[in-house]
Formats: sequence, structure tokens, C-alpha cells
Amino acid sequence: MRIGIPRETRDGETRVAATPETVKKYVATGHQVLIERQAGKAAHFDDGAYEQAGAVLTDSNDALGADLVLKVRAPDAEELSKMRRTAFLVGMLDPFDAASNDAIAAAGLTAFALEAAPRTTRAQSLDVLSSQANLAGYKAVLLGAHYYGKMFPMMMTAAGTIKAARVVVLGTGVAGLQAIATAKRLGAVVEASDVRPAAKEQVESLGAKFIDVPFETDEEREIAQGVGGYARPMPAAWMARQATLVAERCKQADIVISTALIPGRPAPTLISAETVRSMKPGSVIIDLAVERGGNCPLSQKGKVVQEHDVTLVGLTNLPGMLATDASALYSRNVMDFLKLIIDKDGKLVINREDDIVTACLICEDGKNLRNA
Ligand code: NAI
Repeated sequence: MRIGIPRETRDGETRVAATPETVKKYVATGHQVLIERQAGKAAHFDDGAYEQAGAVLTDSNDALGADLVLKVRAPDAEELSKMRRTAFLVGMLDPFDAASNDAIAAAGLTAFALEAAPRTTRAQSLDVLSSQANLAGYKAVLLGAHYYGKMFPMMMTAAGTIKAARVVVLGTGVAGLQAIATAKRLGAVVEASDVRPAAKEQVESLGAKFIDVPFETDEEREIAQGVGGYARPMPAAWMARQATLVAERCKQADIVISTALIPGRPAPTLISAETVRSMKPGSVIIDLAVERGGNCPLSQKGKVVQEHDVTLVGLTNLPGMLATDASALYSRNVMDFLKLIIDKDGKLVINREDDIVTACLICEDGKNLRNA
């Protein structure tokens, strides 16, 4: 089978869907790999390394014209126009983007959105949300350290003592937990909040303090359990109590890293404009939820802005700032997923008994299964 790896064309996308390491494995199992020239350049994988791994260097027409196309982000209209109607497509296709799903279906493809994989033990090795969010959480802390005008660790010097930075992490899924661990390593004092009760123990095991918002009704307790490991929108009364506590903690904080998301919905607002106004001069907010509307209404997608002497960092695609590692992890996720849709004869199959395959399948032979 011909496996195509085009160069990503979306603005600022530095990642690539296959590294020389995974290409070598595809070639070893008898596939022909067609990689667009310079596809790995932004992630520091050069054409020579792909060639050595056994890939054929080609142009975007050939890479996109393969039987199976591996992408990082969903293809745009021009890319879709170059794909064959019966082709299979695998990538982070944003399964909640109805317009994109429609376009993929209209191109006659069979497509798998890896973000839709269940959060189960068997799916762990192909869990793109985890592999990328982990890097985002780490990078968020480094960005915080960069924009913050003071030190992270407590330091006693002959010229006086510097206090440790106070970091608040809102949302302690994969990105939030990595942010806690990274901020602790840099010597910060860390507090964190999440709606899921299971988060408390994880936060505390990393040496951070959990900002507890007690449940007052059975309904609150029930909704907070979430579904499939994910959070659900909490009742307004709980959100109001959380906002009060978060506002108090933010006032004391130097850096706030917010990562709170609810799948398929706008991100919950956790840091109000009023809270930003009350924060210390020079403090920093890194809003990782900005692509879903943000956890703070003042953060702006793709920008770093100042409000009331607080720096709001709304940069997107933080994993893309660590393009080599992000691509290496993502490529292995993709390779593990392909094991589920390629049979022992090297042919593409859809195994309907497999919950991971059926969860990721968003279009089949041009039929949109998501928006149906
Ligand atoms: P996510 O990116 O969807 O959301 C980030 C965090 O925001 C979550 O922890 C969520 O509970 C939290 N959140 C939502 N609303 C909030 C609010 N109002 N206030 C504070 N926090 C709020 O989550 P992610 O990182 O994708 O993780 C989702 C779940 O999947 C977690 O329970 C995680 O432990 C689990 N997981 C399981 C895996 C496995 O077993 N294979 C692998 C990775 C994650």
C-alpha cells in the first residue's frame, strides 16, 4: 500500500505525521512511503533521513494521492482536492468541527479523527490528546517563566532573598498535571483546581495544594464525575462558588495556567475580567483553552496582550513549539492506530468490533458519520 505524508500547510503548524523512525517501520512491513519534500523540516527531520529510512521523496500531489494519507491537522480544500475518493485519512481532524467533517465526507474519504479515541488503557499508546497535551502543559510553564519578570524558585543570596513564585493551575487533566509537575520542578508553590473529584489525589501526589470547591447537592456531585473521564458543564451555583475561590487564589498568584475544557463545548470561563483587574502587576496568565474560546475572556487567540499590567498569553499550538518531540510522539500514536486498520496482508480494513476504530471513524466512503 502507498502511505502518503504531505507537508502540513496550516499556518504555524510545525509538526509532521511520520518521523524517519516510523517511516522505517512502515517500509519494513512492505508499504511504500511517499513523503512530500521538506515535510519534516520544521520539526528538524530532514529529507535525507526520510530517504535513508526508505521513503520516496515526492511532491504534495503524490503524497496526498496515496491510498492512506497521514496528517497532523485536517486537510484544507486544496489538499482535499488532491486526494483520491477511496483514500483513507488519519489525523487530528477535530471531530467537533462539523464543516470540516462535511468537507472530508464530500471528498469521498474514509477518515479517522484520533482525538475521538476513548480514554481507555488499550488506547493509551495512540492517545494523541495525551501525548500533545503533556507537551503543552510543560511549554505553558516555560512560557509563564518567560513572560514573568521574576524568578520561579526561592533563592537566598547575599543581596537578599527572592520569594518562590506562586502558580495556580486551573484544570488538571493531562496538560494541567504536567504543568504542575514542571512548575514544581522549577521551584514554584503550586495550587490547582478541577471539577473531577479524582483530580484531588493526583494534584496532591504532585506536591500541589488542591483548591477544594465542596459539592452542596447530589446533582453537583453527580455531574462532577464527568463522562468517559471528561468533565461536564457544572451547575451555575458550583461555578459561582469556584469563581469566588479562584478569584481569591488568582489575586495571590504570579502565574495562572488555565487548561479547563469540556469536549465539544466552549471552554468554561474561570478567570473573569474583574479577577484579572485584581491580580498583581506583572503577573501572567497562560490560557491554554484559548482555541475553544478561552478560560479568560480577556485572552486573545494567537496573541500575547497586556491588561491591567497582567500579561495574557493566548498563543496556540504549544506542542508545535516542541515540534521534534511532538512529532515523534504523534507519529508513534499514528503508527499504533494503523495497527488497528491494516490487516496482516497489509490491506486497509474497518474492524467494527473495535471500539477505538469505531470511535475514531468520522467518515466512511464519503458518508459523514459524525453529523448524521
Ligand atoms: P481536557 O483537556 O478535556 O480538560 C482539561 C481539564 O479541565 C479536565 O481535567 C477537566 O476536568 C477540567 N475542567 C473542566 N471544567 C472545569 C472547571 N469548570 N473547573 C476546573 N477544571 C475543569 O482533559 P484531558 O487532559 O483530555 O483529560 C481528560 C480525562 O481523561 C482525565 O480524567 C484524564 O485523567 C483521563 N485520561 C485517561 C487516560 C487513559 O486512561 N488512557 C489517558 C489520558 C487521560
